[in-house]
Amino acid sequence: MVIYMCGIVGYTGSNEAAPILLDGLETLAYRGYDSAGIAVFDGSEIVMRKEKGQLSVLEELLAKEPVTGSCGIGHTRWATHGEPSYINSHPHGDSKKQLVLVHNGIIENYVKLKRMLIEKGCVFVSDTDTEVVAQLLGDIYDGDPIAAIVRAMQFIEGSFALAILFRDDPERLYCVAKDSPMVVGFGKDGAHIASDIPAMLAYTRDVTFMGEKQIAVLSPDGIAFYDKHGMPIDKGSTHITWDLDAAKKGSYEHFMMKEICEEPVAFRKTADQYVSFRNRRLKADSFPWGESDAHDLKRIRIIGCGTAYHAGMLGKRYFSELAKIPAEIEIASEFRYSGYTFEEGEALIVISQSGETADTIAALRMAKEAGVRTIAVCNVVGSTIAREADEVLFTYAGPEIAVAATKSYLTQAVVLFLTAMRLGEIRGTVSAERAAELIDKLSDIPDRMQKLLDDRGEIQFFASREFNAKHVFFIGRGIDSALSMEAALKLKEVSYIHSEAYPAGELKHGTIALIEEGVLVVGIITQHALAAKTASNLEEVRVRGAKVLALTNGNQGDLESHCSKVWHLPETDDLLVPFLAIIPMQLFAYYMAVQKGCSVDKPRNLAKSVTVE
Ligand code: AGP
Repeated sequence: MVIYMCGIVGYTGSNEAAPILLDGLETLAYRGYDSAGIAVFDGSEIVMRKEKGQLSVLEELLAKEPVTGSCGIGHTRWATHGEPSYINSHPHGDSKKQLVLVHNGIIENYVKLKRMLIEKGCVFVSDTDTEVVAQLLGDIYDGDPIAAIVRAMQFIEGSFALAILFRDDPERLYCVAKDSPMVVGFGKDGAHIASDIPAMLAYTRDVTFMGEKQIAVLSPDGIAFYDKHGMPIDKGSTHITWDLDAAKKGSYEHFMMKEICEEPVAFRKTADQYVSFRNRRLKADSFPWGESDAHDLKRIRIIGCGTAYHAGMLGKRYFSELAKIPAEIEIASEFRYSGYTFEEGEALIVISQSGETADTIAALRMAKEAGVRTIAVCNVVGSTIAREADEVLFTYAGPEIAVAATKSYLTQAVVLFLTAMRLGEIRGTVSAERAAELIDKLSDIPDRMQKLLDDRGEIQFFASREFNAKHVFFIGRGIDSALSMEAALKLKEVSYIHSEAYPAGELKHGTIALIEEGVLVVGIITQHALAAKTASNLEEVRVRGAKVLALTNGNQGDLESHCSKVWHLPETDDLLVPFLAIIPMQLFAYYMAVQKGCSVDKPRNLAKSVTVE
């Protein structure tokens, strides 16, 4: 089966389409980079250019064989199955050459539809499920694009965001979405389609999120919307306040480094929404639970994938420790098939930077169907998760473009921390004095983060000596164990170095067999109550030949004498340490990847938004 998590763009207006489409695709390249293509109406016919490989390959092709015209669509593709190839690149068309389209999503019944269409005489040229939609639309089309789209949707099972260009309606673009993100917007020089907001920010800040099976018709004069039956509807727009520069690399070599360097600001911006630092108080109205319902809360279930899941691991600890509420954390893709039965008084928190992760959306929907209260921690206004959850605790990280999540993790973690604190306040498990103390310490965090960033040369130097490592193990206990998980994920995804995280106490139950001369073990030791125990575990691997690096705060014993290297964190409360400790780990992963010459912002085989399961 071929599945995609791709980027789509479209433009119709008074300017040349190709440069606008390429500009948008560049911004969306984080969604996939196996192949790219555009189709533009040149005044007499639809001209297609597509190529296997990164966007630069398409750009080279267009420099040699330019296309002119002011209405077109574009696509950047990510495939997990089936070879990325010219033939499978988008756009795709129908046998009768009536239309071309680009697609993000998966057509689950494409095999059945393909068989039916072949019997009707369609000649397929690719292995994709997308071409099935193009052929199906072409088979149905009789001059009325909206009627054809409405009819085609009755056959298609699965998820899709489609941008379509009909040959006999060359100034207009049609788009439709189901379970796949898509935004449209109208700027001063025309109308735009994109999979994600940053791709159109240079042209308009007023965007409309496409709802389930809604259709939009874009013309140089405006955008009209229709429901799934083809009836006209009114849709409002959302004004986006992000700074455009936030989605550009500026003077940084990589988005990942830029986004790590933005962490103090992202952290402050997010915390400011939930805390009045001047009054040393939480902003009670910013949280989902109030005096009346916080006491009824019996259990919190936290769901996420990847880095968001790791932020949830911190959240679990915060809810247990600060609010004394039982909290469970589960990976969304496991949870959705676990057959779990929600209990009375339970709430679900889903965490997602993009708000479009397919498995997290599925878990959210399960809870909603069960009548469970759902709260999203999300970075993208208007995303599916932000729209569907009962309440949203937004993070204010700004656009995160690098595939490796960095600032989103930090902002998710602080939102979870503050929510746990608020619940603790109401339930009487966090005193007013303790809350004020934590808020004061929290307000110092951005400056301390900045100090870590300013001192990053030491990490860069260490990475320059260690980048040939074949295996790296991260260990810690409690909160440090949760941090280790994220540190290991960062390192493996950007540097391709095999890295694993273990609760430090687990080593002796098997993993220690992997320790041999020269293996790098990173001990995260920030929790005073557990420090001595992890330090002993580090000593156990050191005497078996491991090279040991410790990341620690305050005075955690005589680590210098046991470790090859010790990195010190600025002092803060044990509960707040993760906001500092993750930064050296992200920098370490970054510098190791740079030293190895890896594609830091777009690691192989990955995409930023995982919109299919
Ligand atoms: C980690 O660096 C990844 N980008 C990935 O694990 C990510 O956190 C995961 O896919 C979840 O994405 P989301 O937050 O957009 O739902």
